[in-house]
Amino acid sequence: MADDKREKLLEAIAQEIKRCKKCILHQHRKNAVPGEGNPYAQIMFIGEAPGYHEDIQGRPFVGAAGKLLTTLIESLGLSRSDVFITNVVKCRPPNNRDPIQEEIQACSPYLLRQIKIIKPKIIVTLGRHSTITILKEIGVKVQGITSVRGKVFDTEAFGFKVKIIPTYHPAAALYNPKLKDVLEEDFRFIDVVLREKLDRKREVTLDEFF
Ligand code: URA
Ligand code: SF4
Repeated sequence: MADDKREKLLEAIAQEIKRCKKCILHQHRKNAVPGEGNPYAQIMFIGEAPGYHEDIQGRPFVGAAGKLLTTLIESLGLSRSDVFITNVVKCRPPNNRDPIQEEIQACSPYLLRQIKIIKPKIIVTLGRHSTITILKEIGVKVQGITSVRGKVFDTEAFGFKVKIIPTYHPAAALYNPKLKDVLEEDFRFIDVVLREKLDRKREVTLDEFF
C-alpha cells in the first residue's frame, strides 16, 4: 500500500465505524469514536471504550482520563497529533460498563485494520481489556494486566515488527496515587523504548513468558 493512502484508508474505516451496527452498542451511542491522530504515528495508544465525553464529542480520551493521558504523552516529548489514540470498542457502553466479549469480538476487526495501516513501532495497551485483546493477537493469554504491565513484548505481529507495552488505564490511576506512580514509571520506560535505549531485562520474548 502506498503510504500516501493511509489518511484515506483510515478515513474510510472511520466512516464504516460511524455507520456500524454490528453490536448493540450502536443503539446507545451519540457518536461513534473511531480514534484520531497521526497516520504515520510511531506509537499507538489503545484504550477500552469511549466514555461520556468521548461519546458526545466523537473523539477519544477527551475527559478526565484523557487529560491524564495527554499529559503522559507530552511527558514523552510528543503531542496528541504525533501519536494515534483509539479504543478496542468504538461506541460507548451504557453507564460506562465494561464491554462484553461479543462487543469486543464485533468491534476489534476495526482496530486490527487501523493497526495494520499505521504500522506503529510501539503499541501501548491501556488497561485490562485492551491488553487482553492485543496480547491474544500474538498468542499470549492473560487474565489481567498485573503480570504483564511495564513489560515489552518484542514481536512480529499484524505483518510487521512491533513492541507491545501494556500499562494501567489512566482512569484507574485518577483516584489511586499508587497506580498513577506506576503509570508514570511505565511512561518513562516507554520513553526509553521509543528512543531505542532498550533495557533488555524488561524485554519479554514469548519463550520467556511461557
Ligand atoms: N476511557 C477509554 O478507555 N477510552 C476513552 O476514549 C476514554 C476513556
Ligand atoms: Fe460497531 Fe464497534 Fe460500535 Fe459495536 S461498538 S456498533 S461493532 S463500531
